[in-house]
Amino acid sequence: MTERYRLGSPIETCAVTENLPILKKDIPFFSRTEDNGFILKLDKNDIVYGLGEQVRGINKRGWKYTSCSADNCNHQEDTNSLYGTHNFFIVSGSVLFGVFFDYAGTINYDIGYANYDTLHITADDYNMDVYIITGAIEKDIVKEFRSLIGRSYIAPKWAFGYGQSRWGYKSAEDIRNVANEYKKRHIPLDSIYLDIDYMERFKDFTVNEQAFPDFADFCAEMKKEGIHLVPIIDAGVKIESGYDVYEEGVKNNFFCKDKDGNDFVGAVWPGRVHFPDFFKPETREWFGSKYSFLIEKGVEGFWNDMNEPAIFFTDDRLESVINRVNELSKSDMGIYDYFEFTGIVAGISNNIEDYKKFFHTVNGERIPHNKVHNLYGYNMTKAAGEAFESISPEKRILMYSRSSCIGAHRYGGIWQGDNKSWWSHLLMNFQMMPSLNMAGFLYTGADLGGFGSDTTEDLMLRWLQLGVFTPLMRNHSALGTREQELYRFDNCDDCKKMVEIRYGLIPYIYSEYMKAVLKNEMMFRPLSFDFRDDEMVKSVEDQLLLGDELMLAPVYTQNAVGRYVYLPEEMKLVRMRSLDDYDTEILTKGHHYVKADLNELIFFIRKGKAIPVGKSAENTALLCDDTLVLMGYDGTGYALYSDDGISKNYSIDDNLKIIK
Ligand code: GLC
Repeated sequence: MTERYRLGSPIETCAVTENLPILKKDIPFFSRTEDNGFILKLDKNDIVYGLGEQVRGINKRGWKYTSCSADNCNHQEDTNSLYGTHNFFIVSGSVLFGVFFDYAGTINYDIGYANYDTLHITADDYNMDVYIITGAIEKDIVKEFRSLIGRSYIAPKWAFGYGQSRWGYKSAEDIRNVANEYKKRHIPLDSIYLDIDYMERFKDFTVNEQAFPDFADFCAEMKKEGIHLVPIIDAGVKIESGYDVYEEGVKNNFFCKDKDGNDFVGAVWPGRVHFPDFFKPETREWFGSKYSFLIEKGVEGFWNDMNEPAIFFTDDRLESVINRVNELSKSDMGIYDYFEFTGIVAGISNNIEDYKKFFHTVNGERIPHNKVHNLYGYNMTKAAGEAFESISPEKRILMYSRSSCIGAHRYGGIWQGDNKSWWSHLLMNFQMMPSLNMAGFLYTGADLGGFGSDTTEDLMLRWLQLGVFTPLMRNHSALGTREQELYRFDNCDDCKKMVEIRYGLIPYIYSEYMKAVLKNEMMFRPLSFDFRDDEMVKSVEDQLLLGDELMLAPVYTQNAVGRYVYLPEEMKLVRMRSLDDYDTEILTKGHHYVKADLNELIFFIRKGKAIPVGKSAENTALLCDDTLVLMGYDGTGYALYSDDGISKNYSIDDNLKIIK
């Protein structure tokens, strides 16, 4: 059951697609503090699941989180905000309910941080809708919530293939080389990503003609090889006279305004930019229509970036910092001057004070950005999603974004933003999967191998072993870091085998993804959602269920030759070196140490279940359901969802077949 409550007069977020009546009584479960905050006393064993894209574990208890979308490529355990904000969580234990704060501003969640037994929530102001969702079990609550917020975005099937990306590919020649290196080794590949260097001076909806002559021909050439080019689109529009996107935006008042009503100026990759005011339907329509510049040339997918929005500096801040640094440099730079110096320099970029300096027009009203900050990336994705409906009514276009909030899940997926080549981020990537699914984000994954800092070949391989299962399987890295295309490593052959395993499993992964989308369910779940009476699973933070068939237990530490696993029931261990070289073993309920050499992917098939496994192919277009065989417990069937992966006939009845 879902109940809706209203505090004050909220700004419309369009997160929810159902219009429930507003109840005029006290919000259950919480008590209110004098300053309007929410308090819930937690029992010793209560667990808090959710909050979507956030740091720390599956159980969010024991830390403080802030819903304020942030470009933070250096995030660690003590971070409070990441790229997206997802205000939905479930409290499970002495009580069981879900809550969604439908709110555009900043919320602070103290989940047993100041006091371990207290959940304390405060917000910028209290103009919000609060939805309380109750149900018999967590899965029911999620399903009910997901039906409230509408069906998740559906990616084309080719987007389940392996993708290679790197910030630093500068020309068609660079991209051709990557494609050739993969082809030469017969490593499956479905997409190569175009980062900002494909553009002319980092201007959206342009192509650098010197570096990419005849872009449409190049797209066609790659497509012949089964490879999709996926360009990036950034939020900021370069200020440059004569540049059509800039000129049109200025002329039609499509950009965010500063306090004096001038187009607001910030700086990102191209230097000084204006930010489209995506809250205005006419801006969305205009910006969305611009994607056709690339679609007409043969592009079928995009990633939207820097849309928190990231702001490297504003001119007034830059000036005041430079002035202060000049003053400080004349002092003896003692400890406090030095701290001030490093603090103000570090605070130039993504300074939340800058979010108060510009304005949107929301339903005809001027609203400062900080009041609707978390909705910015959402509305950029919405601009694209709405436009794709008319530009490409029949065919799915791949779209995923860096920033997001609930609502954006209907228009695109997300990647988990800039991570690092750290083992801890491999684990964090895994732990975020269920909370993102709770918030409606099904098409997701992280930068495999890690984006920032130098990866190692063992980290790459272990991360690929996790990427085998995530809908988005993309290797991406930052400019200046160690090159991490799979062919760079001595263990390339092992990496290749992992990608081939992925292709063998795509029929299953795609099927589970589609079922989860169409039934408003979670593809990835904590063990405790299914094994509700098992006390042990409540603290399992490094294993997840995938669909109804699999339990995943990735290796996420360096130099490991295996790992401990807890089985809440008997399961069949699969230890795979390649699609044709694997062993299986039935393990009993309980604790086990499972060996997994670096080249071995381990996963578990649940008792009485089986999954379809096919042959690999050089790209998804060449996969064939006819090769599927069942792996798992004998005598079990599997309900396979399969469609053409391109068109939009998603009917579950037409597309489901039982294979035995
Ligand atoms: C941002 C993106 C990253 C991209 C880079 C350059 O940091 O998150 O994926 O490579 O910008 O465009």
